[in-house]
Amino acid sequence: MADMKKEIERRRTFAIISHPDAGKTTLTEKLLLYGGAIQQAGSVKGKATARHAVSDWMELEKQRGISITSSVMQFEYDGYCINILDTPGHQDFSEDTYRTLMAADSAVMVIDGAKGIEPQTRKLFKICAMRNIPIFTFINKMDREARSPYDLMEELENEFGIGTYPMNWPIGCGSDFKGVYDRNKGEILAFSERHRGASKIQATEIDLNDDAALDEMIGEKLKNVLRDDIELLDMAGNEFDLQAVHNGKLSPVFFGSALNNFGVELFLENFLRLTTAPLPRLSGDSIVDPFDPTFSAFVFKIQANMNKAHRDRIAFMRICSGKFQRDKEYFHMQGGKSLRLAQPQQLMADDRAIIDEAYAGDIIGVFDPGIFSIGDTICERSNKVQFEGIPTFAPEIFSAIERTDTMKRKQFEKGIAQIAQEGAIQIFHEPYTGVEEVIVGVVGVLQLEVLEYRLKTEYGVDIRRRDLGYEHVRWIVGDDVKPDELNLTSDTKWVQDFKGRNLLLFTNPWNITWALDKNPGLELMEFSKN
Ligand code: G4P
Repeated sequence: MADMKKEIERRRTFAIISHPDAGKTTLTEKLLLYGGAIQQAGSVKGKATARHAVSDWMELEKQRGISITSSVMQFEYDGYCINILDTPGHQDFSEDTYRTLMAADSAVMVIDGAKGIEPQTRKLFKICAMRNIPIFTFINKMDREARSPYDLMEELENEFGIGTYPMNWPIGCGSDFKGVYDRNKGEILAFSERHRGASKIQATEIDLNDDAALDEMIGEKLKNVLRDDIELLDMAGNEFDLQAVHNGKLSPVFFGSALNNFGVELFLENFLRLTTAPLPRLSGDSIVDPFDPTFSAFVFKIQANMNKAHRDRIAFMRICSGKFQRDKEYFHMQGGKSLRLAQPQQLMADDRAIIDEAYAGDIIGVFDPGIFSIGDTICERSNKVQFEGIPTFAPEIFSAIERTDTMKRKQFEKGIAQIAQEGAIQIFHEPYTGVEEVIVGVVGVLQLEVLEYRLKTEYGVDIRRRDLGYEHVRWIVGDDVKPDELNLTSDTKWVQDFKGRNLLLFTNPWNITWALDKNPGLELMEFSKN
């Protein structure tokens, strides 16, 4: 028991998010190097090999590659057991990112110092802010020309409505980059390109009033700038407030260069100190304490066909309380059945290992014979809990798809159903038309391309896609409404989801207003209740 408590206390589980190319893979790799989880740079899969691929399809695979092979990684550092959850960088997969955030206790966002918050990143980061989880910011590529650190922080504050607190402060940037000033310790961490790959950088303690020492280290000009900056930050910047960090209201900001392994250790140590051990979760009105010895977990991701040779399907679950044991029977709330979780595994860099036990905070992947859905709860029969479901995003792009080969009906239906179960697409159909088309709704257009690609490569089905002009979806509230009797504009379409619930697809917001105005009593919902 004491062991269990200690094990849970030392867990740190976070999601890493960024715009593609900001340096997420590089930073992850450096973190893993610290933990000794990998031996050399270039081991984090998905990137280097796929980078030089020319075709778009390979690009898609790269997208998948990142989120699959390295989707969860565990490593040890300084007595902590750290779980990193990777997220796909592209905004079209922001729903995936949202689900992953549900499984994390904090998020690290990586920003390119030259670019700041890029349009594509905006949505991802907003999602993060929506969850109110602690956000730590790593501003990367300071060895290149970067925007003013004030600008970058102001942008973060304005975009996300949260405060920022620079833990360290850059001294110059690009060819002039001299290092960072650690505000907490009053030390300068001097930068030199030689640090590349070296894991330990000795910081120099420095008194900001020591003219000679500063002149020698960073030169007179940067000395003056640094002094002014620190004075301004101390006087006019936000106060450090750990509670605000934990509530997601204040983001500690770190500057560095992941490629040069500069500022990474400083980041890691402070991050581990400031972030939280596994947090409690809600089950209805009650709170599930991670230290409660009875096991509970929820599924946040399902991934089929990770390994083409095995045609497997893995459900990833976040353990919310207690200890998981491989030989024990658990209870699947939504299925109403006891079961043994088959082939429980954890991923480490590009390896998978079967595990015998895991603790609250950990992520495990289990073989899924097709019984799990996203949001499902697994717990002990004696102590039933049910975690809140994970809301689905309202799709914004709709496409009618049909198979080109009439013989392949079974594969087509299986493929579509499985991919929908993974939460990658939502499927609808037009009632009573007898048309064999399936209407697919997605959040981003890349998801449609992935669908087409996966149906072909994993199920051997070619499809024809006809993009529809709808952009808004609303579920009709109440079973007594007769959708075919509603007064709607001619470009509004009535469809049903796979549970037979009625929805309306609209081309523009004006048509939604029309529907509500012309049909008194009609109630529409933006999200479906699972
Ligand atoms: P991502 O996962 O967020 O998409 O980014 P990734 O780490 O792959 O980094 C994108 C590019 O930025 C890579 O260069 C990487 O080497 C570079 N990079 C990452 N961190 C830094 C940094 O601190 N400073 C500088 N100057 N560059 C950095 P690439 O040329 O696209 O690929 P590669 O051939 O170097 O791997």
